[in-house]
Amino acid sequence: MTETFDVVVIGAGAAGMMCASVAGQRGRRVLVIDHATALAEKIRISGGGRCNFTNLQAGPANFHSENPHFCRSALARYTPQDFLALLARHGIAWHEKHKGQLFCDDSAQNIIDMLVAECSAGNVAWRRPCKVEALQRENEGWRVDTEAGTVHAASVVIATGGLSIPKIGATDFGHRIARQFDIPVIAPRPGLVPLTFDAGSAPFAELAGIALEVELTCNAGFFREDLLITHRGLSGPAILQISSYWTPGDALRINLLPDLKVDSELLAAKNGARQHVVSVVAQWLPRRMAELLVERAGLAGRPIAEAGDKALRQLAASINQWELKPSGSEGYRKAEVTLGGVDTRALDQKTMMARSQPGLHFVGEVMDVTGWLGGYNFQWAWASGYAAGMAV
Ligand code: FDA
Repeated sequence: MTETFDVVVIGAGAAGMMCASVAGQRGRRVLVIDHATALAEKIRISGGGRCNFTNLQAGPANFHSENPHFCRSALARYTPQDFLALLARHGIAWHEKHKGQLFCDDSAQNIIDMLVAECSAGNVAWRRPCKVEALQRENEGWRVDTEAGTVHAASVVIATGGLSIPKIGATDFGHRIARQFDIPVIAPRPGLVPLTFDAGSAPFAELAGIALEVELTCNAGFFREDLLITHRGLSGPAILQISSYWTPGDALRINLLPDLKVDSELLAAKNGARQHVVSVVAQWLPRRMAELLVERAGLAGRPIAEAGDKALRQLAASINQWELKPSGSEGYRKAEVTLGGVDTRALDQKTMMARSQPGLHFVGEVMDVTGWLGGYNFQWAWASGYAAGMAV
């Protein structure tokens, strides 16, 4: 079966559906193709099932990219307020949780249903589940061979996302298409991912389950967020955020008590105090953690008045400047996003079109634009999808 459309969107996730609905509502004849059986699984599982669909503070500084200014134009043309206006039209209730992060009150399914309704309003056609076998240039447009026949279109939008969570349908399709047309791809790697430690060197495995707010630094990354100690290593929002700045071999620097200058406090506590060192530290940190740190500093069972200044300073450094080297990450199996992707220097920032391939666009996570944790990645999907939807 051969059909002709104005636009074929490959990938029916966040960016693909946004793009298709915008183009369809502009009167373009649009077909969306996706190989997965279930629609938009990543939206469904996102934000613990409630989809952290945007962040009120979203701006270029919240994104990783080799070309950091690229995202500016699209983010300015489709803002969190624009998405909130869309939710309002569909009567979807939401709330702010933490630092500008917005979630559905009810369920992430609200967002999927809304995008499907928006596509219907634009008379978007669907082929799914359906595999794409080949994409080729043809005269002025494109030929898309699928397992359900060939489609011709003036424009093709690649919205197949990143490599994270292969078991729900993530593939490297978009990166392969870019390479096929000589469009460079920045080497992909997992982002927003728990970090791991070699067996035996897992920091404080015996403290698994403890969570506390810390300051965490690695390379250019700095966050104040919750850290969670796990049996395999470290996790929680602080680690997920910093993981996108971490490359193998780098050390993390963690301040377990960012509001306290622990060396001064310990030295001051020596004066006349009868308390043991561990009791002093346990005023600030969970007792199990205090015991372990004090033991590692060789101060277990010692009254603070008898502890040497050097040992107290070392203990303070292990709290305010804990340095440790992860051995790896949990990889794409657990990563929320993929860093790297289609090099945006080869794309037009207004239309998301490849400069060297008229009519071929890339949107969403397949590109080298990756947000922090907190709704930024969906905001990029909406903004880039909108930009391409207005252009195709
Ligand atoms: P997305 O992955 O959504 O869609 C790609 C689509 O392409 C899929 O439907 C897939 O089936 C299809 N596809 C792939 N290969 C194909 C092929 N070869 N042929 C045809 N179709 C193909 N972000 C955020 O801002 N807030 C949040 O709360 C969360 N939470 C979250 C939780 C978890 C567990 C994960 C894994 C990720 C998040 N994210 C997030 C990240 C967010 O989900 C992600 O950045 C966006 O879904 C990216 O949207 P895209 O449309 O680019 O890809």
